[in-house]
Amino acid sequence: DIEVEVAIAYGLSLEQFERLLLAFPKVSAAERETLLTHPGWKSAMNHAKPATSVRIANHVAPALSAIDLRMVRSIPPGGNWKDIPSSIPSKRLAGIRKSYAAGEGSRSTYYGRLRADAPAYTISTYFPRPGNGCHIHYDFAGGQHRTISYREAARLQSFPDDFVFSGTKTSICKQIGNAVPPLLAYQLALHLGTLGVFLDLFSGAGGLALGFKWAGWKPILANDMEPSFLETYRKNVHEATLCGDVTNDAVLDSIVNEVRRQR
Ligand SMILES: C[S@@+](CC[C@H](N)C(=O)[O-])C[C@H]1O[C@@H](n2cnc3c(N)ncnc32)[C@H](O)[C@@H]1O
Repeated sequence: DIEVEVAIAYGLSLEQFERLLLAFPKVSAAERETLLTHPGWKSAMNHAKPATSVRIANHVAPALSAIDLRMVRSIPPGGNWKDIPSSIPSKRLAGIRKSYAAGEGSRSTYYGRLRADAPAYTISTYFPRPGNGCHIHYDFAGGQHRTISYREAARLQSFPDDFVFSGTKTSICKQIGNAVPPLLAYQLALHLGTLGVFLDLFSGAGGLALGFKWAGWKPILANDMEPSFLETYRKNVHEATLCGDVTNDAVLDSIVNEVRRQR
C-alpha cells in the first residue's frame, strides 16, 4: 500500500509506475499485479489534473509520522479517535481514552476524518496534526491517508489558488490557520456600505485585506511582526509593508509617518 501511496503522492501515473516497476526484477508477477490493481490508482485518476491544468501551489500534504499514518489508516470518513484500535500504541490516545472514560468530554473531532458530503470544520493552525482536530482527507476508499494539504486548507479558508504562500511549513500553517477568510472579509466590507483606503494592522498573510480589495477598498500599508507573513502579503495583496512589533514606539511612529506620507 505504502509504495502505491508514495508513487501517487509524487504524481506518477499508473503507466509511469508500471514502467518504473520494470527496474525491479525481484518484484514477482503476483506482487506486480497487486501493485498495479491497487484501489489508490482509481482515486488518483479521479483526482487527475486535466491536460491543460497548471501545478497548484502549496498543494503538499504535511508528512505524518509512522504511528500517525497507522492511526489515520484505521479511521473511516466521519470517524475519529474512537476508530483507532487499542493495539496501536499511543500515549496521547491513552490520555484521550482516559479523560473520555472520566466523562471529561468526547473530543469527537480528535483524529477526525472529513466526509465528502458534509461541511469541513474550522481550520486552525494545527491542521497538519491529525490528533488536533478533524483534518484527515475524506477519501479513505481511494487511499488518501493523510491530513489535508496546505492548499486544501487555504481553499477551505476561501483563498483562491493563485494566492501563493511563502515561508516555512510552520509559517504557512499559521498564515492559513490565523487568517480571516477572504470571502468573509469581502462580505464585511460590502456591508460597510462605503469605500476607502485602509491601514492593515496585524495583517498576517492578508486574508482580511484580500477580501477588502475584492470589495474595492485600497490598501495603504500592512504591518505584522513576522517577515514571512509579509512576504506572502507583498506577493498577493500589496507591496507596501512594514515589519515590526506595533507596540514598539519607533515602529508605531514609522507606521504613522508612512500613512501620512501616502494619504
Ligand atoms: C489573527 S492574525 C491576523 C490575520 C490577518 N488579519 C489575516 O486576515 O490574514 C494576527 C497577526 O497579528 C500579528 N501580531 C501579533 N502581535 C503583533 C504585534 N505586537 N505587532 C505586530 N504584529 C503582531 C501576528 O504575527 C499575526 O500575524
